[in-house]
Amino acid sequence: MDRRKFLNTVSVTAAASIAGATTFSGKADALEEAMEEALEPKRRAKPGFCTIGEERDRGPDNRPYYQHNDPAFAAMPKAPTLMDFYKMRFSTNHVTQSARLALKNGASEKVIMACLLHDIGLNIRGTDHGYWCAQLVRPYVDEEVAWAIEKHQALRFLPDPSVDYEYPEAYIRLFGEDYVPEDYIMEEGKKAREHKWYMSSREITINDVYAFDPDLQVDVEDFTDIMARNFKQPKEGLGFDGSPVAHMWRTFIWPTNFL
Ligand SMILES: [Fe+2]
Ligand SMILES: [Fe+2]
Repeated sequence: MDRRKFLNTVSVTAAASIAGATTFSGKADALEEAMEEALEPKRRAKPGFCTIGEERDRGPDNRPYYQHNDPAFAAMPKAPTLMDFYKMRFSTNHVTQSARLALKNGASEKVIMACLLHDIGLNIRGTDHGYWCAQLVRPYVDEEVAWAIEKHQALRFLPDPSVDYEYPEAYIRLFGEDYVPEDYIMEEGKKAREHKWYMSSREITINDVYAFDPDLQVDVEDFTDIMARNFKQPKEGLGFDGSPVAHMWRTFIWPTNFL
């Protein structure tokens, strides 16, 4: 195997696992995993929901599709809270790590809340996940929080030396050295730079790049109070409050419904 080529293909998570392993056998295991990852065919990004076993033993149920209550997922309460979605649906460790960093860096509660939410759109799709996420939370948060989340989609690609934010090295590995974001991203980024809330979105990107520690578990409950103060939980539950985005929350509740 070409060593240089291999190292260029190792993902940031795999590289962190190798670097972070403290024993020789731990390093060997992490290296083996990275090699397996590098040998995999080119990957298509899919939300986590799509990778949960597509075919299952039907048991006594002979209906061909699920319509509500797929047993692969925990049943959610009748009036689910944001916390319920973190615990029962979302992939959380990256966003909780970034919120923890924001807290440590002395960020405002709005920015910490934005960090905690910024990538939950990835549970829908990677493509334009910042926009998906902003839309999903806009009725329940301060507009600055939604704006900051939306603009992180573009700003993570734009360096800002004044705050030591560089183009993420991981993107070179993942998307290639010659990757140039689409024009709409560059335009959005430039406009966002001039906006009064620019730094709120920029702080998301700053706390984002260091929030991939495979050995650190950050409990979402550490943010219970910040969540309570910065997210307007509807009493009917997310998905049932008649908001313009209620259907998006219901899609998380029943992600595999036929209709
Ligand atoms: Fe993101
Ligand atoms: Fe992120």
